[in-house]
Amino acid sequence: MGEPVLKRGFASDNNSGVHPAVMKELLRVNRGHVVGYGDDPFTETARELIKKELGEQTEVYFVFTGTGANVLGLAGVMKSWNSVITAHTAHIETDECGAPEKFSGCKVLSVDTPDGKIKPEMLARHMHGFDFEHHSQPKVISISQASEMGTVYTPDEVRELAAYARKHGMLLHMDGARIANAAVTLGVPFRTFTTDAGVDILSFGGTKNGMMYGEAVCFLKPGLDEGFKYLRKQGMQLASKMRFIAAQYIAYLSGGLWKECASHSNRMARELQKKLREVSGIKITQKVEANGVFLIMPDRVAALLSREYFFYPWNEAISEYRLMTSWDTTSDDVTQFVERLKVIMSEVK
Ligand SMILES: Cc1ncc(COP(=O)(O)O)c(C=O)c1O
Repeated sequence: MGEPVLKRGFASDNNSGVHPAVMKELLRVNRGHVVGYGDDPFTETARELIKKELGEQTEVYFVFTGTGANVLGLAGVMKSWNSVITAHTAHIETDECGAPEKFSGCKVLSVDTPDGKIKPEMLARHMHGFDFEHHSQPKVISISQASEMGTVYTPDEVRELAAYARKHGMLLHMDGARIANAAVTLGVPFRTFTTDAGVDILSFGGTKNGMMYGEAVCFLKPGLDEGFKYLRKQGMQLASKMRFIAAQYIAYLSGGLWKECASHSNRMARELQKKLREVSGIKITQKVEANGVFLIMPDRVAALLSREYFFYPWNEAISEYRLMTSWDTTSDDVTQFVERLKVIMSEVK
């Protein structure tokens, strides 16, 4: 009674719990009274820690969710006649229930990508109608780092997209729900592929990597956050007890917890990939550069396996499934899952 009902598995990095160091920090800040809505010393510390990573000029606004960060960050820099261009696999396109359109009034335009990553040449089909009042005005390019397909943009690739955006009078937004996974893969500081690469607005997340909830909308260039404090309130993302979002970022950023957790989950993804490759009849479909593994397996096998393990189909048309590792995934989790898959494969053949 009251125990977890879901077997440890690979459905999502949202399904794992909260890192004990984050819990400890939540308890530490849970003392006395502080001013609400972010005017407290803990929030100030968390903001400073993010500025240290991204640059002093960064304006940081904490919100509750990743969707909230993306939607409000975009709405903050667009007018209702603008459009944002993103990959067809992007969270803002597929998993936010039309919230970007609802809250900003803007169109979301998408491009097909084989691996979740946008390249400048893919954007050409949307690059017309500038100054033409019958056409929505492209204003932002939005990329996800790491991408929803578990791939990672190099700093040069980000730089190229930022230059392309600038050339067209546009801005570059980055959905960094899994930014830590990307940073450990690249082996560079956050700012190398964000601020220094020309990103304008960043959703800086940690929930997928050991935090409980909370996200930071970061405006990386001065002036972009004009009016954002009002928008955050109107968008119902202003936390009264802000210190509890801040505490999580303090735990996450001050002692390298982000790196420890992301390195581990990326390592587990590579281990999962390696073991899956040994199973005949399984095909890995994407490069494993973060904590996602995409594979094709027979639907019958997936159906039997998912009676024991919960996981999501990704592209049903080609029997493609998504597996995600977490900060708390163990080698035993990987071994047991793959062993079970092997048994089912042999029974179904
Ligand atoms: C790429 C990406 N962006 C943003 C989010 C944020 O989502 P949420 O609103 O559920 O916190 C997610 C969550 O799964 C995600 O995968």
